[in-house]
Amino acid sequence: MEYISSKNIFLLIRDTLKLHDRRPMDHGSRAGYLFCKMLECKGGYEQYEIADFLMLATLHDIGAYKTDRMGDRLNYEFKEPMPHSTYGFLFLKNITPLEEMSRMVLYHRVPCTKIPGEDFQYAKETEILSLAEAAEVYHLALGEGFDHKMFRRQEGTFYSKEALDLLDLAVARFDVFSHLADESYQKELDDILEYMIFTNEDKKKFIQTIMMCIGFRSEIALMDAVSCVCVSKQLARKLNLAPENEEKLYYASLIHDIGMLSIPAKIIEAPRKLTQEETALTRTHVSREEKILLNRMDSEIVAIATAHHERLDGSGYPKGLTASSLSREQCILQVADVVTALTSERAYRKKLTKEEIIKTLKQDVKDGKLHRQVTECYMDSYDEITQIVEKETKEVLDLYNSLTTKYHSVYGDFKNKNK
Ligand SMILES: [Fe+2]
Ligand SMILES: [Fe+2]
Ligand SMILES: [Fe+2]
Repeated sequence: MEYISSKNIFLLIRDTLKLHDRRPMDHGSRAGYLFCKMLECKGGYEQYEIADFLMLATLHDIGAYKTDRMGDRLNYEFKEPMPHSTYGFLFLKNITPLEEMSRMVLYHRVPCTKIPGEDFQYAKETEILSLAEAAEVYHLALGEGFDHKMFRRQEGTFYSKEALDLLDLAVARFDVFSHLADESYQKELDDILEYMIFTNEDKKKFIQTIMMCIGFRSEIALMDAVSCVCVSKQLARKLNLAPENEEKLYYASLIHDIGMLSIPAKIIEAPRKLTQEETALTRTHVSREEKILLNRMDSEIVAIATAHHERLDGSGYPKGLTASSLSREQCILQVADVVTALTSERAYRKKLTKEEIIKTLKQDVKDGKLHRQVTECYMDSYDEITQIVEKETKEVLDLYNSLTTKYHSVYGDFKNKNK
């Protein structure tokens, strides 16, 4: 069953990351356009291959979300590029289906003379990407004063002759910088995206990736998201949901909190109760995510995801929906979300006991907020579900933390080799 097209997978990842900060994605799109046009001049690529390269190029600075301040591009691109290159490489290699191409990100800011040629099938493309993204940065910074020939000064030292020749060609054949300047490049990108093809397995992995991006803003928010996915999966099984509904609930649970990327970490992780203003801001995460999900993903999945703060008695948000318009899947995600909030540790209160959690849930059912059967199903299997959730959450956390460990070793190795 196709719940989302390949093109929309790309748009969803890009726009989810834009919720956090739009700059690396805007730069990635524009550099990606230059890169694709240079590859077109090189020739020998199928359209779907160009589309794959566009995906990689758009995400080439994804590591900066973790390692750098977004406004400091000159630093992370030109002065100290290895932290964001290393983390981006590891994230793409270990979390996304872009494993094969991920090394392009590791080497996207090193001199062409230091890009390994052996055992690296994308060495040439990496040289081209390196020039494409530098040209984008300088074109934007210098405006009218920009001349793409300026990079010839570093021919053979930083940029390869072939890449420089391809940039000349792309300017002569496609007038690429005019298209960037008047934004018409976006229509061309759109045409390339039509050729994007991902398998269902890849799409699933990309949607899991989208959830992992929440960690760029707050690791606590990521852990809550993972826990909520686990709880809703267990409830779906225990309540014998039909396989198709179970799958839709699974995808909805993965993306249900991506809007949190737009909320400052100091609010998400505040060691106290939030002020009225902060609560109001936090609540906008649902409408923000709805905006980027609508018309891109299966409408039932979007409806489940965006109703996770609704309550049966109409006291929830953002729409104040009531019991008669809420589906079983929506109710399950609501219970899973409440359970996650109750079971996770919060800086402003100590961990709640099982008895306290059960008492709160019973009260919510009595008040007509949570679905009785779903909540009872959770309470009946409290110990079993808690154990599974702890195990699965730990696995994801270990994977996420292993990126940091690998980061120190890859980055250290790189520094030693280039002393
Ligand atoms: Fe870049
Ligand atoms: Fe970069
Ligand atoms: Fe939420």
